[in-house]
Amino acid sequence: MRKQLEELQARALEEVQRATSVAGLEELRVRILGKKGMLTQLLRGLKEVSDAERPELGMLANQLKEGFNAALTARMGDLHHLELQQRLALERIDVTLPGRRPHGGGRHPISRALSEIEDIFLQMGFPAVSGPEVESDWHNFGALNIPPDHPAREMHDTFYLAADSQGGARVLRTHTSPVQIRVMESRQPPLRVIAPGKVYRCDSDLTHTPMFHQVEGFMVDRDVHFGHLMGVMETFLRRFFERQLPVRFRPSFFPFTEPSTEVDMGCLFCEGSGCRICKGSGWIEVLGAGLIHPNVLANVGIDKEIYSGFAFGLGVERMAMLKYGIGDLRTLYENDVRFLSLHARGEGV
Ligand code: FA5
Repeated sequence: MRKQLEELQARALEEVQRATSVAGLEELRVRILGKKGMLTQLLRGLKEVSDAERPELGMLANQLKEGFNAALTARMGDLHHLELQQRLALERIDVTLPGRRPHGGGRHPISRALSEIEDIFLQMGFPAVSGPEVESDWHNFGALNIPPDHPAREMHDTFYLAADSQGGARVLRTHTSPVQIRVMESRQPPLRVIAPGKVYRCDSDLTHTPMFHQVEGFMVDRDVHFGHLMGVMETFLRRFFERQLPVRFRPSFFPFTEPSTEVDMGCLFCEGSGCRICKGSGWIEVLGAGLIHPNVLANVGIDKEIYSGFAFGLGVERMAMLKYGIGDLRTLYENDVRFLSLHARGEGV
């Protein structure tokens, strides 16, 4: 047993010196002193040696243990130091390297277009107001001269919602025109506002998304006529597109305006000579408008003998795509960071 203890002592001390990592030393400690360790196993044999030999062997075992522990602690200190030096060398920071620029946020092209539109109208005396996205059937259709069985309802693919607590039909608003009704119900002319916001239609393909943005605008006062509408539309389009483009007013139909018009402007891309974007016509349709229908004024209690007004509604996605040169409507909603950062810096024009 003495021989075994001496051999173990020599071997343990040698292994301490040979260890190259703190983890290796820890593993060695368990191998020698642990519950199933080599010294622990040897000490179990002490029971079998004679009473005369036992004290001496016990002392030897204690010396071995203390010597081993002391060597282990010293080596552990050395290795800690060494490992620290290695890590410091490896993780050295090169303070001469250029810094990394953080990615700055940017505004989405729709938000940019919306605030440009709002600014222009505010300068013309049209402040922005908002209205609810969940609308009553009356505000979205009825008050706008579209009764329940009217074929014009087919023009809007409507998301119908559960009825309200009084059983009134509710929809996700299909356009921003109901805000006209809400403003005229609560205020008397003269009125001049725009109503930007989200609208919803059950429609999805290359050129349509189920949610999109519109800006409604209207003015009600004494003697408002079609010439006012034309002047406001031309001024707005020229300021927004920063170009002196021709603007034309084509007869059209909306139940809530009479007469109604689609407003076209000269194609930004070919300047009228005809291209793929304007389908060869030289014109691009940009918005719908008209003089407010007398039935709509009657529905909100405004005297049509005294007052008249005009209204218009434009699609913000369409405006943004034309102004910033965006070819596909869906890229506006895919949140591809490459597309967004290009347009946030205004380089897509
Ligand atoms: C209307 O919604 C009328 N309320 C506009 C109006 C207001 C006319 C006041 C007269 C007086 P329209 O359905 O054409 O009209 O939609 C207006 C614009 O919204 C379109 O010119 C188009 O630019 C845009 N738009 C319509 N559907 C979609 C869609 N699914 N995705 C993206 N843009 C759309």
